[in-house]
Amino acid sequence: MGEAVYPVPSEWAQNALVDAAGYDEMYRQSVENPEAFWAEHGQRLDWIKPFTKVKNTSFDEADFGIRWFEDGTLNLSANCLDRHLATRGDAIAILWEPDGPMKADGGGEPHREITYRQLHEDVCRFANLLKAKGVQKGERVTIYLPMVPEAAVAMLACARIGAIHSIVFAGFSPDALAGRITDCDSRIVLTSDEGLRGGKKVPLKANVDEALKQCPGVDTVIMLRRTGADVGFVEGRDVDWASAAAQQSADCAPEEIGAEDPLFILYTSGSTGKPKGVLHTTGGYAVWASMTHQYVFDYRPGQIYWCAADIGWVTGHSYVVYGPLMNGATTVMFEGVPNFPDASRFWQVVDKFKVEIFYGAPTALRALMREGDDWVTKTSRASLRLLGSVGEPINPEAWEWYHKVVGDSRCPIVDTWWQTETGGAMITPLPGATPLKPGSASRPFFGVKPALLDNDGALLEGATDGCLVITDSWPGQMRSVWGDHERFFQTYFSTFKGMYFTGDGCRRDEDGYYWITGRIDDVINVSGHRMGTAEIESALVAHSKVAEAAVVGMPHDIKGQGIYAFVTCNVEVEPDEALRRELVAWVRHEIGPIATPDVIQFAPGLPKTRSGKIMRRILRKIGENDVSNLGDTSTLADPSVVDHLLKYRAF
Ligand code: WT7
Repeated sequence: MGEAVYPVPSEWAQNALVDAAGYDEMYRQSVENPEAFWAEHGQRLDWIKPFTKVKNTSFDEADFGIRWFEDGTLNLSANCLDRHLATRGDAIAILWEPDGPMKADGGGEPHREITYRQLHEDVCRFANLLKAKGVQKGERVTIYLPMVPEAAVAMLACARIGAIHSIVFAGFSPDALAGRITDCDSRIVLTSDEGLRGGKKVPLKANVDEALKQCPGVDTVIMLRRTGADVGFVEGRDVDWASAAAQQSADCAPEEIGAEDPLFILYTSGSTGKPKGVLHTTGGYAVWASMTHQYVFDYRPGQIYWCAADIGWVTGHSYVVYGPLMNGATTVMFEGVPNFPDASRFWQVVDKFKVEIFYGAPTALRALMREGDDWVTKTSRASLRLLGSVGEPINPEAWEWYHKVVGDSRCPIVDTWWQTETGGAMITPLPGATPLKPGSASRPFFGVKPALLDNDGALLEGATDGCLVITDSWPGQMRSVWGDHERFFQTYFSTFKGMYFTGDGCRRDEDGYYWITGRIDDVINVSGHRMGTAEIESALVAHSKVAEAAVVGMPHDIKGQGIYAFVTCNVEVEPDEALRRELVAWVRHEIGPIATPDVIQFAPGLPKTRSGKIMRRILRKIGENDVSNLGDTSTLADPSVVDHLLKYRAF
């Protein structure tokens, strides 16, 4: 087929943490003898009580369970902070860059440099504040904060005392926030007066106040001052972050936490129902986040590393905060967006901090690519050594641009496939070991056993297309759905018996490289953000004029996938442009701007079988603009519905 292959650059092969032979050997050990492999690599953490048991896992219904290092105890905040104090206390842990850059005349907001020693102190004070507010081990703390260092402080403070954090992306609506607070029964919320993104203010505290009308159980809100805006303050409930933390002692001994005690919950969308609380525990997650961070980025202490993800997503958890800090890294935290004040912003930050490793999302790259090369080439980027991609398939054109224009043809690109559920990277190149093919996440990380199955669950060998499953457990795997262990089993382990089903389709080529082709369930990936079509549908039908709705993905040049909604209105309603705008605003209000529909097609009816089931296959094809062959429509109750859909389709 003659697809491009980029060999490992020789300086990488020579100096790499793992070269090609090293990868083969370590991978073989990891899958042939996982007990021995993980007993060794589990030592990368500081344990309070060392583990004696390594792996105790089964994906079978009869004895289903996932436990790693189960009799060990540790503290993750101590692994991120205390362990570095003697050797790297004055090294910078977090380099924070605000939304707006400094101006030439010296105006604007300066960046912040937070050393490990300072971060340790801030975390201890905040952990003591949480304790003073009655937060107990195992209790859920909801975090609704922008990209500020205090968000990392809050996460680490929870980890220090054994509280479970649940971060809600600061772009979510009050309703979405309320749903997540209620689901995990959290009585404390951490937020800021406002957020700042791309020069715009986001009313976070007002959103919290609105959400809490639905959450009578919340008795404490700790509010950080970010912009100093005049916002509501509820006496007895609201606490000013800075002054309350300052009163606390900077001494807080880390709690002894069991390896299988929960660390965090992160809500994510599935193909059915409400978003589910993905639960990660402590020991295995910590091993996975730190080990993948070290090997995937070939990370060496002292290097400046920047993952441009938000802490509201799992990438921010594992690769802005936990992974890098466990490895003693200097991690860049960026409050802003790629195109504010202009499309050079990312690369100016790279030059400012001499960033060596940059990890970003294809959607941002595609948006920047469209603005032209000058925004990139007028910056130096000489410090860059390695680039990463995450969140969605990267199309070869964007990959080539990233490689040639951003990386000056010098930097390998690690295209990392993983999921909220997997805790960290699963299928990924290692920069010193893996020849790269643009668009392929390449080979499995140590301990990951991928397989491809046909729809009936038969194992496929060799070069083929199929449903991607993982056949054995790995330490970073999620352990449960918060409050619904049965749903955990049903969602991931019942489609193909004895295996973890990823929800992704995938191709494996002649060289054993994996190419993720995208979701094969009713989940769409919009700008690297995962959305359940069911969630958008239920937001639409909650509108008084809507009778029925069906949502599918559509190709989108920048976002990867866009949102295409078919809407049937109540009979008395005459759908028009004003209603279309109203529904778009409604969905944004119900879920958040990331769920903004790109297309709303009004339809007098949806294609249903005689038993009343919507034939989504037809809608998907219309969304994909692939209507030449809609397949068998003879089982539809009213086949003429399809003619109307085709006549008024968006493309
Ligand atoms: C879904 C998971 C990875 C953490 C952030 C997103 C898609 C993710 C890739 C990639 C192709 C990718 C998959 C996956 N995805 N990375 N490198 N190549 N597809 O986590 O929100 O849980 O979404 O994102 O479809 O299932 P998430």
